[in-house]
Formats: sequence, structure tokens, C-alpha cells
Amino acid sequence: MSAVSQHAHPIPATSPEGLDRREAALLRLIREAGALAQAAFAADAGGFEMKGPQDFLTVTDAAVEKLVRERLDQLFPEDGFVGEESGSAPGAIVWVVDPIDGTANFARRIPHYCISIALAAPQEILLGAIYDPVHDELYFARKGRGATRNGAPIAVSGVTDPQSACVELGWSVRVPNATYLDVLGKMLDAGTNIRRAATGALGLAYVADGRSDAYAELHMHPWDCLAGLLLVREAGGLVCDFLAADGLRSGGGVLAAAPGVAGLMAEATGIALNL
Ligand code: IPD
Repeated sequence: MSAVSQHAHPIPATSPEGLDRREAALLRLIREAGALAQAAFAADAGGFEMKGPQDFLTVTDAAVEKLVRERLDQLFPEDGFVGEESGSAPGAIVWVVDPIDGTANFARRIPHYCISIALAAPQEILLGAIYDPVHDELYFARKGRGATRNGAPIAVSGVTDPQSACVELGWSVRVPNATYLDVLGKMLDAGTNIRRAATGALGLAYVADGRSDAYAELHMHPWDCLAGLLLVREAGGLVCDFLAADGLRSGGGVLAAAPGVAGLMAEATGIALNL
């Protein structure tokens, strides 16, 4: 087929073929982005600045986002873009990108961070990928097709007893401390063990992978959570309806849980789950 006739019949982005192309590109690109981030991490390049209280920025955040944005612009100029560091450009479907999630870890030389990229339509998350370059673990989900780690299917945990559940609560200065302490108290009272590993995206991927039983945070940005929410849902977990509550523009509360602890987590956080 000639270039002219291809142009005359563009493939709709959300058709199976359009999504196949985006899936293939995403899986290549996120590994390339991870290699760039990990090279900088290994070289201890650059140091960090503060964007605000407890809000870290490294030169690598900007470099990775630039790479991802340029590649996506070349491949899919019709798609929109929302990035943590470089703002947003409109589109009927949008790539939502966190170039480094776990920037505080990255900046302090803790090898626990990831790159998170989602493709979203206004009311649904279509693709989600989270790559941990330290351990070479690539999580991927496509709506309706399950979730994988390095190509192998994954599933949420079967835990039902809160006394053996280990869940994660993330926090930020965007919600008052007292509110978080109240939620934390309820989760402890329910009997769960609680961790905070400082990358919400990887925390969600770990729920999808059955390594953790739930992830909650009272306000997250879309780039921190969209890919992870799709992973958890596709891995058999329950998740909040982040996009319905205007999450793409304003962010919002996040909850993702294995079914056996979903009720207690919804109760403790006050965040509704899609049943
Ligand atoms: C942060 C991390 C953290 C979460 C914060 C996020 P960043 O993202 O995901 O775990 O608690 O809400 O802002 O700054 O590392 O990309």
C-alpha cells in the first residue's frame, strides 16, 4: 500500500489494530526509557532539586520524559500527552507518563523506582506499562486481556485474613496529616501490616502481582496511578473509578485491592471501589 493511500485510511487509535501498534511501541519505548534512567542511576548523575516540600526533581526525570514525549510525538502525532514534568497536550486519547515514579528514592540512591506509562480514553484506561529497570521487571496490561510481568500472567493475592495482609499506604503533603493518620489508624486496627515504599506506581504493580494486598493513597496524580490501576483490575483486583471522578485533570483518591481485603480498605479510606 502506498504512503498516500495509508494516509487516506488512517487506523483508528482505539481499534484493535490501532491498539496493537501502540502496545508494541509502548513495550519497546518503556524499556528504552528504563535503560536511560538506570544508566543515570548507576552513574550517580546529576543530584536533585526540590519542586516543593517532599517533592523531588532530578535531571533524569526531565531527560526520560523528553525521550518518551519525542518518540510518541513521532509515532502517534494525533494522540495527546500528559506528563509529570512537561505538562499536557490535548487529544481524544492521551499518553499519561511518569518518567520516574519514586523520584525521592532515585534521588537518595535507593534502587526502587520505575517508569509508568498509560494510554487512556476519556473514561477508560486502555494500556498500562510499569517498568522497574533495577530488577528488569516489565509489568503490562491491556484492557480485557489480563496482566503480565515479563510476559507471564500475574494475579492478585488470595489473602482474606487481615492479620496476614500486608498493604501499602502512600501519602503526600496534598492531604492533611490528620486525615492520613486517621486512615492509618483504621488500617492498623483492622489488623493489617502497612508499608510505604515511595513509588505508588510500583506499589500498584505489586498488588497486581500478589506481592502486596492493597495500595491506597488519598490523592494521586494520574501519571502515578493510571497504569497501575489497569494492572490491578486486569489481575483480578478491585479498583476505584479514578477517571470518572475527573482524575485525569485533577487527580484523586486511589484504592486498589485484592478482593479479600477490598471491603476493609474501602471502609478505612472512604474510597469507593468498582464492584
Ligand atoms: C510520588 C510517588 C509516591 C506517592 C506520591 C507521588 P513521584 O511520585 O508515587 O509514592 O506517594 O503521591 O507523587 O514524585 O516519585 O513521581
